[in-house]
Amino acid sequence: MEFKLAKKDPHSKARAGEITTDHGKIQTPIFMPVGTAATVKAVHQRELAEDIKAQIILGNTYHLYLRPGLETIKLAGGLHKFNGWDKPILTDSGGYQVYSLTEVRKIKEEGVTFKSHIDGSKHLFTPENVMDIQRVIGADIIMAFDECTPYPCDYHYARRSIDMTHRWLKRCIKRFDETVPHYGYSQTLFPIVQGSVYKDLRIKSAEFIAAQNQQGNAIGGLSVGEPAEEMYAMTEVVCNILPEEKPRYLMGVGTPINLLENIALGIDMFDCVMPTRNGRNGMLFTRNGIINIKNEKWKNDFSPIDAESDLFSDLNYSKAYLRHLIHSKEILGAQIASLHNLHFYVWLVGQAREKIINGDFYDWKNKMVQVLGVKL
Ligand code: GUN
Repeated sequence: MEFKLAKKDPHSKARAGEITTDHGKIQTPIFMPVGTAATVKAVHQRELAEDIKAQIILGNTYHLYLRPGLETIKLAGGLHKFNGWDKPILTDSGGYQVYSLTEVRKIKEEGVTFKSHIDGSKHLFTPENVMDIQRVIGADIIMAFDECTPYPCDYHYARRSIDMTHRWLKRCIKRFDETVPHYGYSQTLFPIVQGSVYKDLRIKSAEFIAAQNQQGNAIGGLSVGEPAEEMYAMTEVVCNILPEEKPRYLMGVGTPINLLENIALGIDMFDCVMPTRNGRNGMLFTRNGIINIKNEKWKNDFSPIDAESDLFSDLNYSKAYLRHLIHSKEILGAQIASLHNLHFYVWLVGQAREKIINGDFYDWKNKMVQVLGVKL
């Protein structure tokens, strides 16, 4: 993997760059649609590539390991072959899902024991087997196994937790370096900065992560319930330490406003379930604000879902129709809303990139932040 910085914004820490993987290039800042179980929910790969113009999607180690399982993915020739997406893929390590999705889990130095949310079966994730699993899945970018601390999290827990996450990282790197890709293209490992909302812990973690000298770095443990201002404060501290010449990935973030504010602080990559999950529930993000399509207000509004979009479904279906589909829990409603929101997110970060390159990102960002949160 390679990263080239193309332009830095003179009025903020925003940057435009380009990541090159063996499955193609990614222009940053980038938003990565979440494809947890080998699918971006309710969206076809062709729509992702051609309508949304997604350049990279995300997969989840936790889900893929449990179902369909490693044997199937291996037999398919890796995740790209299995799901028919031949552009870049990033997999998260399970270092978030084991905490958020499983009720029974034991965290020890060796790793985390957890019970499957599907059938209750017991499993162990260790830094070593999570590297092995991600080798089999075969994503272009894979993530270190970490502990994502909850919010709130007391200081002493957070301090002990980063020490363990750092020891786990050493084990991840060792295993990663001892093994080779299964499918002939290269893979890159990103370590993850933790430290909850404590500045000194974030600094300590960022310095440790930077010193590992991997080709890209991530920030985790944010957007877990803390106020947005605390998230931005942590991003700022960490971005000041992580090397400028490597991509920075802020995990699990966030709202359109969160994306723009974090781009201004030096983040290059994002993923979040919000556009798809909230879309399925009737929340639409637009360049004029947020629409809750379930509201009575849209019942007889036959105007296009989004007249400023270039999507067939945004232009040819009405708000009233989408409202009906979402209320009726029709599959098409989830499809239209997911496509709309992902298209908007990818458009938004693409606009940010264009503005950075043209040198007028900062004023544009401040104007957009004013409107993106408006409830329409
Ligand atoms: N996704 C969102 N936050 C996190 C995090 O802290 N760690 C991991 N592994 N994935 C995440």
